[in-house]
Amino acid sequence: MRVTVSVIKADVGSVAGHHRPHAEMLRYAEKKLAEAEETGLIGSGYVTHCGDDIVLVMTHTRGENDPEIHGLAWRTFKEITEKVAKRLKLYGAGQDLLSDAFSGNVRGLGPGVAELEFEERPSEPIVVFAADKTEPGAWNLPLYRIFASPDNTAGLVIDPKLHAGFKFEVMDLIESEVVTLKVPEELYDLVALLGTPGRYAISKVYRAVDDEPAAAASTTRLSLIAGRYVGKDDPVMLVRAQAGFPAVGEILSAFAMPPIVSGWMRGSHRGPLMPVSFRKGQNVVTFFDGPPRVIAMGWQVSDGKLVGVDGKEPADLFDDPFFDYSRRIAAEMAVYLRTMGEFEPARLGHEEMEYTTLPMILERLKPRFRKVAEVRA
Ligand code: F6R
Ligand code: MG
Ligand code: MG
Repeated sequence: MRVTVSVIKADVGSVAGHHRPHAEMLRYAEKKLAEAEETGLIGSGYVTHCGDDIVLVMTHTRGENDPEIHGLAWRTFKEITEKVAKRLKLYGAGQDLLSDAFSGNVRGLGPGVAELEFEERPSEPIVVFAADKTEPGAWNLPLYRIFASPDNTAGLVIDPKLHAGFKFEVMDLIESEVVTLKVPEELYDLVALLGTPGRYAISKVYRAVDDEPAAAASTTRLSLIAGRYVGKDDPVMLVRAQAGFPAVGEILSAFAMPPIVSGWMRGSHRGPLMPVSFRKGQNVVTFFDGPPRVIAMGWQVSDGKLVGVDGKEPADLFDDPFFDYSRRIAAEMAVYLRTMGEFEPARLGHEEMEYTTLPMILERLKPRFRKVAEVRA
């Protein structure tokens, strides 16, 4: 059967600043998705959070960009905002809902979306990632490692089913254009783009031999939509695994050595992307509103439904003592970067900062700036 997995997320308010959503918000979303399961609109719905973002994972047979599915997500976030977040005066209530103009698709309105439609295989493992306090380009290095780097993904070299490589659809977030690049042939061009994650982000990955969809990632840039700082874009991503795709272990190993990503405090700093468990209360942000973190949920999609380790409870893929090692490194990187305070590269380059006082300071100091030639004269 053809099945679609839709991952739609938004920050519509949180407790203790930008720490995490209130449990009542998650229960409200669970109720909405349970109703949609009962009417048959969706096969399965699962609700979780990563830091202050609520993440909805839905399976259905309606294809990508479906108005009913997007409408369900939109109404859920709207109602949570009105009925829970505003009533409890939670922080940033409705933060990511930038427009009321819903007309069938949440893209461009604030929520992040990663969707993939595919023919369900005899056994269909998927991994859904969600990150907080960072941006869509945070997936660039991990996705490059997973689908393009033979150093990360052994299968690219030794599995005939992966050996022909993958196609990356890369989005220019400023110009709203996409380009598709095939690796290994166009590897250097791909890396040239992906190395600028604030501008270029991966929207889709396809297996080269048969154009089978392999991964989808959200590419929202809230500040470009709103024209002002409205929080970081806290991306989600969905990856198909095994039997012709990278193994789950290859997918996870891309996160073992934490990449430095943009976001963190006031969306204006660089920090390590820390892989965390979501069952052990690690998917919250604390130190300097971070560090940025990522959770990984593993499922089988079986007859259009989510099968996890117990009912639809997903496998908590970063809940492994091995990833204590990565967390330790991420913590050390975080502390180290913070020793630099407001100096680049710990602080983002000026054009990427979400909060800034520089124009104000420059305006005030303008009368005091002197031409060097005059001063030296
Ligand atoms: C980053 C983020 C937080 C806030 C910070 C300041 O994405 O959400 O780091 O930017 O806590 O928030 P305000 O200005 O609302 O006090
Ligand atoms: Mg927030
Ligand atoms: Mg967030």
